[in-house]
Amino acid sequence: MIHVCFVCLGNICRSPLAQGVLEQLVTNEGLGDRIQISSAGTGNWHVGSPPDNRMQKTANKYGVQLNSRGQQFQPEDFFELDLVLAMDYSNLAVLEEICPNPKEAEKLRLFRSFDPEAGGDLDVPDPYYGGGKGFEIVYQMVDRTCPKILEFLKTQANLNA
Ligand code: 4NP
Repeated sequence: MIHVCFVCLGNICRSPLAQGVLEQLVTNEGLGDRIQISSAGTGNWHVGSPPDNRMQKTANKYGVQLNSRGQQFQPEDFFELDLVLAMDYSNLAVLEEICPNPKEAEKLRLFRSFDPEAGGDLDVPDPYYGGGKGFEIVYQMVDRTCPKILEFLKTQANLNA
């Protein structure tokens, strides 16, 4: 079993979407018993909450269901995870700060380091305080990036064999 966790600030917009999109890909490929997916926030404001309504609406429009409940990422979570994907640079900075040791830090990457259309800026922009367009932009980024993450996980876990 390989376990990947997406991490944003609140765990109600960006990381729940990434979780939902990757879960759907993994289910469609019959890899649900090989790849475990979760998400968390660096903050604790939304612990126990469902994803933001606006993010749910955008996901549902594309046939993706979001089933996560808000949780705060804890330093010891690193030990249970194989890959920790930060949705933006500030999330990455917090994760680097709380990471228990250099070995665990090797599990950390920026989500958009897998984005086939990424330029210099590797942030998934925080849509929380903006308008509806922000959620659509986030969806497009996540939708084109998750298949690349799945490819990576397959090579890591020899899931092609
Ligand atoms: P997320 O968006 O990090 O993509 O879940 C946010 C959600 C809530 C807050 C900030 C960002 N907040 O400040 O409550």
